[in-house]
Amino acid sequence: MRQPRRSLRAKVGLLLVGALLTGCGSTPDAAEPAGTPSQAAQRQFKPGAAGAGDPYFPGYGNGGYDVSRYTVKVRYDPAKDKLTGTTTVHASATSDLSAFNLDLAGLTVRSVTVDDEPARYTRKGDELTVTPAKGLITGNGFVAEIRYDGKPEPLENELLGGGGFIHTTDGAIALGQPESASSWFPVNDHPSDKATYDFEITVPDGLTAVSNGVPGGKASRAGWTTWKWAERAPMASYLSFVVIGDLRVTTGKHKGRPIYSAVQTDVPEGAADDSIAETVRVADYLETVFGPYPFEAYGGVVISDPRIRYALETQSRPVYAVDFFRQGVNTEVVAHELAHQWYGDSVSLTRWQDIWLNEGLATYAEWLWTEHRGGRKAEESFASRFHGSSDQVWRTPPGKPGVENLFGNSVYQRGGMTVHALRVAVGDDAFFKLLKTWSAEQRNGNGGTDEFVALAERVSGKQLDKLFDAWLYGTERPAEPKPL
Ligand code: TRP
Ligand code: ZN
Repeated sequence: MRQPRRSLRAKVGLLLVGALLTGCGSTPDAAEPAGTPSQAAQRQFKPGAAGAGDPYFPGYGNGGYDVSRYTVKVRYDPAKDKLTGTTTVHASATSDLSAFNLDLAGLTVRSVTVDDEPARYTRKGDELTVTPAKGLITGNGFVAEIRYDGKPEPLENELLGGGGFIHTTDGAIALGQPESASSWFPVNDHPSDKATYDFEITVPDGLTAVSNGVPGGKASRAGWTTWKWAERAPMASYLSFVVIGDLRVTTGKHKGRPIYSAVQTDVPEGAADDSIAETVRVADYLETVFGPYPFEAYGGVVISDPRIRYALETQSRPVYAVDFFRQGVNTEVVAHELAHQWYGDSVSLTRWQDIWLNEGLATYAEWLWTEHRGGRKAEESFASRFHGSSDQVWRTPPGKPGVENLFGNSVYQRGGMTVHALRVAVGDDAFFKLLKTWSAEQRNGNGGTDEFVALAERVSGKQLDKLFDAWLYGTERPAEPKPL
């Protein structure tokens, strides 16, 4: 999906870096392109890069094309732990391509076509390289269809823990950050290339399959039920998910949008159901602070598999581990995951290093929600952390956390404190205007730290480089925030 405004520039920069790093020197092997002979002679078809150019994860994503839409059709048989899929990728070339890569982990590719013509393909680790019969010309659209099957495997990440597809007692779950999608469909697996998604998930009759966006109904045939889901706002691939299982489903409508929530039936009815039932109330509050809710559907999914200990802001429908509700109703975690719908999902990272923008704002949303409900004030939440955080938090710069601290306390807690320090510095009027402007201007796109800082300076009319340097990049505790 093309990025609006300034983000486009940032993205093109990344693609160039990726192209320089990998494979640009190799010999193109494309057939004659379309167009006049003189145009054809000038074109140099080359393979697209095998990475999107993210310094933290050089292998994530790919270069040379831009996806606008995925259609993911999979059938999963829990008895055999077997997945059979056909994924269609609608994309356009951003350079003259002799070949391009998709990310796909495990699974066996059975056939690939590009624009309905058979294409050659090779696999190397998690990279699928597709060589179409004809070269792909910059700016032209193309459609790739990949058929595949096999036993899906989770993705291992030594530093961050795993993600991806897991087989559960009643079905399966595919979920995870910073990557998960490539464990069940071929994808340009980096948040810089957002796209819309249609899912058709076929499971044995009696099981439910939940995914992102608007429910499109279900249909049964010969013992199998196909569940349709559509996410029509651009989505980063790590925000896609599927939960297949024995689910207790709640549906409704709010502000003209469908609500669809589900809890695994082995979770006792109670706190988990009651917490996600608060979703629309929390979303309505967050709208008053962040601006209009960005998506077409609401919901939440609570899962019981003990291997998953986290919640994730999967687009339009966060997924929560049951652990969050063991002590009773917990709407803080709902506020956190819903805040990501604005910050992380609608406005997405261009590179993983900027993760504090997602997590700092989501942590701050928890503090605002707590205050809104009559609990402690945001400034008290700030103060307890400012005075009580460990040295590790002050040593780790949240704006440059390194891969090993990508989801560490500094990113979450010092990230939240950074947001509060900014509020104190610029004052409430400028601060709340900034939050709404950021979600409005970057909506359905991407944005990074530098753009956020630039907007904060534009909205407040203040120089904020010292503040952000200390809070995001310093390695000791910054001074107590003061109005500037
Ligand atoms: N981003 C998630 C949240 O804050 C938490 C998270 C961190 C996560 N690392 C993860 C979720 C890995 C899934 C997998 O809401
Ligand atoms: Zn978060």
